[in-house]
Amino acid sequence: MKIAVINGPNLNLLGRREPEIYGSGTLEELEKMLIEASEGKNVEFKFFQSNSEGEIVDFIHQCIGSVDGIIINPGAYSHYSIAILDALRAFDGKIVEVHISNVFKREEIRHSLITARAADAVIAGMGFEGYVFAFFYLLSLFE
Ligand code: DQA
Repeated sequence: MKIAVINGPNLNLLGRREPEIYGSGTLEELEKMLIEASEGKNVEFKFFQSNSEGEIVDFIHQCIGSVDGIIINPGAYSHYSIAILDALRAFDGKIVEVHISNVFKREEIRHSLITARAADAVIAGMGFEGYVFAFFYLLSLFE
């Protein structure tokens, strides 16, 4: 089973960026958590982070036909990127959108999740654990 893990803008700064909201763990530690959770399972991750909308769209295109599932945190693009929504809609596998923080508890500008319209499931507010839950959900669909 192949899973792409896509993190959008500013998530490369995890650990340094608003730690009271996103925690003190880094993106590298987050990816390590997923690798550890997948031990003993036949899973290959493709990790990708970009601050650019076009690069995220291009990467989602590469996922078509080559991975079974996508775990995506589009960061701020979640709230307005129709381009990422359309790319996710073109993807033929399962999609889980993850938000580290509970966006619904925050400013109103974060309450609308445009990209989540293409997702099979959405997780918000569970910190890094949200990615692990997303992984186990995808695993349950394909095992
Ligand atoms: C986020 C929430 C977004 O509103 C914000 O722009 C992010 C991170 C989260 O993981 O909680 O960059 O997607």
